[in-house]
Amino acid sequence: MKPRLLLLVPTSTYRAEAFIRAAQKLPVDLSIASEAPNSLAHLHPVDLPTFDFSRPADAAARAYALARSHPIHAVVAVDDQATLAAAVIAEALGLPHNPADAVRASINKFFARERMRAARIEQPRYTLVPLGNPAASVRDIVYPAVVKPLSMAASRGVMRVDSPVQLEDAFHRVRALVEANGARADEIARSNLLVEGYVPGWEVAVEGIVAKGRAHIFAVFDKPDPLEGPYFPETMYITPSRLPWAAVERVVRLTAAVVRAVGLTHGPFHVEIRGDDTRAVPIEVHARSIGGLCSRVVRFEDGRNLEDIILADALGLLGDVPAIEPRAAGVWMMQSPRRGRFEAMNGVAAACDVPGVEEVIVAARPGQYLEPLPEGFLYTGFIFARGDSPQGVEHSLRTAFARLLPVVHEAEAGAA
Ligand SMILES: Nc1ncnc2c1ncn2[C@@H]1O[C@H](COP(=O)(O)OP(=O)(O)OP(=O)(O)O)[C@@H](O)[C@H]1O
Ligand SMILES: [Mg+2]
Repeated sequence: MKPRLLLLVPTSTYRAEAFIRAAQKLPVDLSIASEAPNSLAHLHPVDLPTFDFSRPADAAARAYALARSHPIHAVVAVDDQATLAAAVIAEALGLPHNPADAVRASINKFFARERMRAARIEQPRYTLVPLGNPAASVRDIVYPAVVKPLSMAASRGVMRVDSPVQLEDAFHRVRALVEANGARADEIARSNLLVEGYVPGWEVAVEGIVAKGRAHIFAVFDKPDPLEGPYFPETMYITPSRLPWAAVERVVRLTAAVVRAVGLTHGPFHVEIRGDDTRAVPIEVHARSIGGLCSRVVRFEDGRNLEDIILADALGLLGDVPAIEPRAAGVWMMQSPRRGRFEAMNGVAAACDVPGVEEVIVAARPGQYLEPLPEGFLYTGFIFARGDSPQGVEHSLRTAFARLLPVVHEAEAGAA
C-alpha cells in the first residue's frame, strides 16, 4: 500500500500548483484539503475534503475521520493559513510534526518574540498596544518604531512610525484594514498590535528545513533594495548573499537559534533577519517555506525543487539534505503601483529577452482588484533570473523590471 499524503492548501495561496505537482511525482496517494469545496479540482480531481483551517480542532476531527478509511502518513501545510491546522492534525494522528505550540508562536509575532526573549536572543524592544485604544500605552514607545498586526503576511499593515502622530495614523490605517477584512467591533476591541523598535541596517531572508533534528539552511537571500519604511514592500531576493562572511555566519547561527527558540522541530522555515557590521537581529520566523511564487528560485543540485524536498522530508524519504545549485539566483516580486483593477502586463516579451532572465510570470488576473502596501498583499507578477554573480542577477532583474508595465486602472474596491 502506498503512503498517503494529506496536503492542506488554503484557497488564497500562490503555492498550490507547485506543491500539488511535486506530490503527483511521488509514489503516494494524495488527499488535498482546502477551506472551499472543489477550488482545486482542476489540479487534482479526486479526494478534495473541505477543512476549515481557522478551526484547527475541527480540521483535526475531519482528518481523523478521513484517516479511518484512508490512513494518512504525512500532513503538510503549503502556506501560513494552514500551518496550525497541520500541526493539530498531526498531533491527533500521531504523526511527526512541529508541536502545535511552536506553530502558534510562528504565526503570532508577539508569541514569537516572547519565545526568543526566553531564549535570550537579542531583539528590539517590543510591546503590545490595544488596537482600539493606542493612547493607553504610547508613552512607553521609543521612536523610530514599527507597527505590525500580529498575524498578517507579506508586510501587510506593517508601518514605520517616527512620532506619536504617525503612530496614531498607523493605528487608524490598520484598524480600517482589519475592519475591511470583516473583523467585528468586539474583536477589534480585544485585539492588539505589536509595536517594536526599528532595527536599522541590511535585511536578509533565510530559507531552510529542520530535518532529523537539525536546522539545514538552503539559502541566505539579500534584499538589495533598502527597506527603511514607512512601508516595506519587498522587491528582490538574491542568493548567495553579498554580506561579509562574518555577517553571514552570524545570520546562520542566529537562524538556528531562532528556530530552536520558537520550537520548530520538523519541516521548512523562513526566517527574516536585519543587522549591521556588529550584530544580527531576528525580525520574524515562519514554519513554512518562501512565499508567493518565489520558491522557483530555489533549485537543488540533484534537479529537485523546494517542494520536492519538503514533501520527501515529510514522508521520511529525504535521506541527506541536498545542496542548492551554486549559481546566483534571484526573484523580483512585483506589487501593484496603485490601487485599482489590473488589466494587463505590458513588456513581458522584452523583459524575457534580458540576458539572465529565466521567466516572467504574470500573477494577477485581468479585472482583479489590487492595492499597494500597506493594505495590499497580492502580486502583479514575478521575474526570475540566474547568473554567475549576485550583481549580475540584480542587473538582470532591474533591467527586466524597467521593461514591465503593469496596466492598473484606478478604482475603488468593489467598483467594477
Ligand atoms: N523591528 C523592525 N525594524 C526594522 N524593520 C522592520 C521591523 N519589523 C519589520 N520590519 C520591516 O517590515 C517588513 C515586514 O515585517 P514582518 O516581516 O514582521 O511582517 P510580515 O507581514 O510577516 O512580512 P512577510 O510575511 O512579507 O515576511 C520586514 O521585512 C522589515 O523590512
Ligand atoms: Mg516578513
